[in-house]
Amino acid sequence: SSLEVNKNGKLSSGEENKAFFRRGVIAWQQHFQAQDIDILLVTTPKSGTTWLKAILFAIENWTRYPDTNQHPLLVNNPHDLVIFLELQLYVDKQVPDLTSFTSPRLFATHLPFSSFPESVTCSASKLVYLCRNPMDTFISLHHFANKIRPRSFGPNILEDVFDMFCRGVCLCGSFWDHVLGYWKESLEKLQKVFFLKYEEMKEEPIIHLKRLAEFMGCPFSLEEETLGVVDKILRLCSFNHLSSLEVNKNGKSLTGVENKAFFRRSEVGDWKNYLTDEMVDCLVQIGEQKFVESRLKF
Ligand code: A3P
Repeated sequence: SSLEVNKNGKLSSGEENKAFFRRGVIAWQQHFQAQDIDILLVTTPKSGTTWLKAILFAIENWTRYPDTNQHPLLVNNPHDLVIFLELQLYVDKQVPDLTSFTSPRLFATHLPFSSFPESVTCSASKLVYLCRNPMDTFISLHHFANKIRPRSFGPNILEDVFDMFCRGVCLCGSFWDHVLGYWKESLEKLQKVFFLKYEEMKEEPIIHLKRLAEFMGCPFSLEEETLGVVDKILRLCSFNHLSSLEVNKNGKSLTGVENKAFFRRSEVGDWKNYLTDEMVDCLVQIGEQKFVESRLKF
């Protein structure tokens, strides 16, 4: 498990963390009642969840908060505005009170598609899926795990966690199976699953932001586009802006993790600074094997 700190910030053993995660997963699988207009952000850990949470929140609430100088994202970490079902909402209570969530509700999860309850799969709720190339995902995960790991445990060794990553021993199972599950669903159900890669969002943010807004059912009007709304949202949610905010430099979100741990370098290709040629070959080979039929590539 990459989590060594529980939601109260207390140290806990790997087993306690797994139990904590499992409890949240089972509770939301059993008790979450999806509404047709719900939107769930689904991500592989460390693929840019924080960024997409901010973006989806800003898109969905644009008419409520059109002033970026008075925006909730200036004083709240994105993880406190778009809540993780299994890591936050369904942890304390098996059946939490969701009446305070205004529709359309926006939630987040790391669960693989195969673990989704029928309440979601059989409803008209929509899924925005975000993933990132396995090399950067792994390096980001490694840094994050070491940041939140109690000092007394000592740092994780890159080679050890690399081996686990390759074997699919991760919080949400195999990285490749996770991606493949949503890729297949997105091909079959275009209206249900929006499949996005971190690298695509970095390269063409304007195009993808507009596509996201359309998918979510709140496309920007011509007038909004003329007023530069897309640009404003992108600037509001940018890495430089969010990571410079006081709340993200010193605060702690409901996840129990310090907000600054969610911001590191935000670069595509940072893996080149850490992975050996053998490690890269290994990840490429697993990807080729897993994605052979789908022709999915990073
Ligand atoms: P790096 O560790 O490569 O820097 P998650 O949000 O899923 O935990 O993923 C964290 C990764 O997203 C980190 O990557 C982090 O720096 C990056 N990130 C956080 N906020 C971002 C933003 N606003 N824009 C782009 N990347 C962001």
